[in-house]
Amino acid sequence: KQSKLILDKDYIAGEVDNRLFGSFVEHLGRAVYGGIYEPGHPEADESGFRRDVAALVRELRVPLLRYPGGNFLSGYNWEDGVGPAAERPRRLDLAWRTVEPNAVGTNEFAVWANSVGAEVNMAVNLGTRGVDAARSLVEYCNHPSGTYWSDLRIAHGYPEPHGFKTWCLGNEMDGSWQIGRKTAAEYGRLASETAKAMKWVDDSIELVVCGSSARKMATYAEWEATVLDHTYDEVDYLSLHTYYGNLDGDTGNYLAASLDMDAFIREVTAICDYIKAKKRSKKTMRLSFDEWNVWFHSNDADAKQRPWQTAPPLLEDVYTHEDALLVGSMLITLLRHADRVKIACLAQLVNVIAPIMTETGGAAWRQTIFYPFMQASLYGRGVSLHPLIESPKYDSKDYTDVPYLDVAAVYDEAAGELAVFLVNKDQREPMRLAADIRSFGDLAVIEHQTLESDDPKATNTAREPYRVVPHGRGDAIVDGGRLAATLGPLSWHMIRLR
Ligand code: AHR
Repeated sequence: KQSKLILDKDYIAGEVDNRLFGSFVEHLGRAVYGGIYEPGHPEADESGFRRDVAALVRELRVPLLRYPGGNFLSGYNWEDGVGPAAERPRRLDLAWRTVEPNAVGTNEFAVWANSVGAEVNMAVNLGTRGVDAARSLVEYCNHPSGTYWSDLRIAHGYPEPHGFKTWCLGNEMDGSWQIGRKTAAEYGRLASETAKAMKWVDDSIELVVCGSSARKMATYAEWEATVLDHTYDEVDYLSLHTYYGNLDGDTGNYLAASLDMDAFIREVTAICDYIKAKKRSKKTMRLSFDEWNVWFHSNDADAKQRPWQTAPPLLEDVYTHEDALLVGSMLITLLRHADRVKIACLAQLVNVIAPIMTETGGAAWRQTIFYPFMQASLYGRGVSLHPLIESPKYDSKDYTDVPYLDVAAVYDEAAGELAVFLVNKDQREPMRLAADIRSFGDLAVIEHQTLESDDPKATNTAREPYRVVPHGRGDAIVDGGRLAATLGPLSWHMIRLR
């Protein structure tokens, strides 16, 4: 098959915000305990955090980490996780039916996040709690000193404020699985009043209000409109969440799911702009895609877990090569909407639907999805371009006109570097790419990285951690401003040029 592409350095879609490469650590399963934190592990530092895991996180160059949940957030008392560790309560976590030991809390996480180069995207519980707990938490975290909550933080051993800039107003408040679920009007009012008080404590913070927990929710669209009607002036971002899975074993249909993500972003953008028009507002609402990934492999195993364990294995999806391709296509979709999507968090980071896996007491390794995420995070910073793509298409069970070729391109003008990310969704045939890049002047290929496998179901495991890894043997060349490359069947590519 043959595809054509035109990239022009002046045809800009939007500035890529570094926070597009964020991730998420929830108190869930072995994400924290047995994941980033495992005192007694040979790799543990003096605070109990695993050095080997931190090193892998640094490889991903994650600028932002959403914390502490997720569904966990809606029953969390943040006060349980601060102060002397020996005095912290063990609590039932009703969201995941586990026991939370509270050995790690806000302060420990803030220090760890800083050590891996990430800011914290903090969250306030709007399930069981409200305005008072939220304003106290902002004061505890961000106020310098001289007040009850800021002095308590200092007494706990943290003289400097954490200065968390981005905050989520609850999590998935439309979901029946959420403790303290609310109607859109109830949530909208509460979020608006909470936002007001939080910004009165610290007017430098930015707030993310909950959109629907999925595009398929019955209240979708109406939820966004109602919530924004209440909160438009107080908040800075509206959240989106999505997960996909190949439950029917239909690879073509599964890989087409990035079209669903694309439509989701377009629709939510339209709803934001509708409320902007209705309010005659000058402000343009930005989007935070603060949960996205593949999630389905672990469903059956999770249903069999005994309740009330501490840090049991939950949501431990072992990702295949084809999962990495969909993650790649989702990254491409986010990059192409870089004008409106300013924050995105791969959900999650370690063990729980994660690019990084660990054995408790043992090794840490990179899952298949680690690689497209890492390459996009390292080289997808700059301005995202509008690619003009001419690709053959296919139809699948749920989608029509699915382009075999997915493309995003990011130009870093200061470095003079162009990065092109591509997925070939064709299961049998290679794709020949012919791209016109004459507007960039004289570019040459720095590297052409490829992720491919002869088995779409191949995985990386503790025993075989390097089965699916990228290689640099791609054949991309430039001649007279024309880029040519071969993209094998079911493959991800990053072509860098300077
Ligand atoms: O990321 C796993 C869970 O998915 C989160 O806790 C929740 O917000 C979503 O439903």
